[in-house]
Amino acid sequence: MLVLGIETSCDETAAAVVKDGRFILSNVVASQIDLHRKYGGVVPEIASRKHIEVIIPVIIQTLNEAQITMDDISGIAVTRGPGLVGSLLVGLSVAKAIAFMKDKPIVGVNHLEGHIASVFLGDTYPDFPFIALVVSGGHTSIYHVGGFQNFKILGQTRDDAAGEAFDKAAKLMNIGYPGGVAIDRLSKKGNKNWIQFPRAMKESLDFSFSGLKTSLLHCIKKRERPFSDDEMKDVAASYQEAIVDVLVDKTFRAARLLSVSSIVVCGGVASNSRLRERFVETSAIAGIDVFMPSAVFCTDNGAMIAVVGNHMLEKGQRDNFDMNAFSRWPL
Ligand code: KG4
Ligand code: ZN
Repeated sequence: MLVLGIETSCDETAAAVVKDGRFILSNVVASQIDLHRKYGGVVPEIASRKHIEVIIPVIIQTLNEAQITMDDISGIAVTRGPGLVGSLLVGLSVAKAIAFMKDKPIVGVNHLEGHIASVFLGDTYPDFPFIALVVSGGHTSIYHVGGFQNFKILGQTRDDAAGEAFDKAAKLMNIGYPGGVAIDRLSKKGNKNWIQFPRAMKESLDFSFSGLKTSLLHCIKKRERPFSDDEMKDVAASYQEAIVDVLVDKTFRAARLLSVSSIVVCGGVASNSRLRERFVETSAIAGIDVFMPSAVFCTDNGAMIAVVGNHMLEKGQRDNFDMNAFSRWPL
């Protein structure tokens, strides 16, 4: 089974061909990061216009790299939501056009389920059930995953997502975009105990990161002189540690509460080096297996969408041409 996965929910125009829901024949990602950098965040109107420009070349390159033609694919999986509606509609329209033209089945995929399924692209992956922490620019949630299309939310952010907390802090500190990558890089040489930033909602599986961001803002405002370069490293490391602490604590707590022995960590923030280090360390202490997709599959890509699509198509699921985009998944 060869599935063409298409992903345009945010600022990556991505497509991939995946065989039997596991093996990648090609995976092409055109990132718009440079385009949005000067605004310090994704500008939806610019994102959707860029998707229109590059989606066809990205799909052609994906098929060429897989050394197949559109006639060879078994079906198409396309991100339907959650995401930026204008961006999602570009992927959906092109996917529907290909499905119509080539008479192929099409399914609309939940982007978050795609992130969770990215774990199946690795050499090792867990059996169901497992606990999944999805940490991206738009989402921070913990799920109990019983199987494909069978996940139950256990906790989620009440305000900012973890990626958003990284991005907003990097903007306040003026250290580059995307914020998570900039803070990760600076933190490597910083002292993580330099400032004790708040860890919110300790007793719950829900998250809150807006107080953390405000605390950083106060910290910057009350200073008489700007932070030196070395102090910036310490601030970054301390701030990152506060985010990582709560993500690790709550995910392991969820696994213990539900007596589940495997954890999957996925989404853009899952490429954070300190987060990965802490999950590995805690896994050994807690005796709970942790699976993290490689960094390329943590950020948005078409392969993860194809993995979910493969499962849906195998089950005989089909979507119609009136399928619409969702900014929030209707669950
Ligand atoms: O999953 P993703 O590519 O897009 C969304 O669905 O949101 O995640 C993007 C987010 C951004 O907030 C970015 O700052 C964050 O992932 N990110 C990181 C790192 N790399 C990307 N956050 C922390 N450390 C990183 N190394
Ligand atoms: Zn994502």
